Amino acid sequence: MFTALINRSKTPTRWQKIPWDDPDFSRRMLAEHLTQAHDLASRRLSIIDQHVRWIHHAILHEQPAKLLDLGCGPGFYSRRLSALGHMCTGIDFSPASIAYAREQDPVSAYVHGSVLDVEYGSGYDLVLLIYGELNAFSPEDAEDIVQKAFAALKPGGKLLLEVHPAGLVERVGQEAPSWYTAEQGLFSDQPYLCLTEAVYDGSRAISNHYVFAAESGAMQQYTSMLQRYTDDDYRALLDAFATVTFFPSLDGGSAAGDLFVIVAEKAAG
Ligand SMILES: C[S@@+](CC[C@H](N)C(=O)[O-])C[C@H]1O[C@@H](n2cnc3c(N)ncnc32)[C@H](O)[C@@H]1O
Repeated sequence: MFTALINRSKTPTRWQKIPWDDPDFSRRMLAEHLTQAHDLASRRLSIIDQHVRWIHHAILHEQPAKLLDLGCGPGFYSRRLSALGHMCTGIDFSPASIAYAREQDPVSAYVHGSVLDVEYGSGYDLVLLIYGELNAFSPEDAEDIVQKAFAALKPGGKLLLEVHPAGLVERVGQEAPSWYTAEQGLFSDQPYLCLTEAVYDGSRAISNHYVFAAESGAMQQYTSMLQRYTDDDYRALLDAFATVTFFPSLDGGSAAGDLFVIVAEKAAG
């Protein structure tokens, strides 16, 4: 029964993500986005309200703007920014999140697809990629996203990244193994046991979740990864931009520790 676990591979050869785009997984993930009990998938709405206020005042200077929200999830940010008069497009490959976003927010445009494949369009004042999602892409894919965002911005437009500091990625990769059981949850609609084990390989945190179905004992492995970047690595990634400014948080307040904000501005032309 535990052979698969004993033979587990802790360091995948290819970059791995959790299956946000799988229909059943995305349905269960949507519940995690919507809950106001924790901030695991999206921040609680009271926090998102503060972020949106800061983006509207400090980044967009209260001027109507054309915005692209990459990995928009259920559209919490786009919906609020549209309500403030901005013209928003969100892209996400989670079918449940995009269906929810479209249902709740008929004003913004929502595109179902991968940010690696979908055409972004052009003429944006602001492109967002928040909640540490840049770190969840391989460095090559992160470069592609930044290049596509750069091309989609108008002269003087801004790319806003909310990213993890290097130390956080190291800590995640060095977390002690842990486990929990659930009657139902993110990994299954049926009872399961989840064992989690992390590895830090010098540049990436790799979190492996081994999920055992309570009935059959069958194991399924889910792996998520975070790429470590130093501040200089982030600056190098953004070297096509005219200016790169670091902010401690997405609400204008002091550093929250796990995330910080980089705003890269394209030359005015
Ligand atoms: C941590 S959640 C954040 C959602 C939203 N930005 C928020 O803060 O509420 C990351 C989102 O990125 C999306 N995502 C991850 N990889 C993606 C890809 N390749 N293309 C499109 N969306 C992706 C996931 O489906 C998920 O909705």
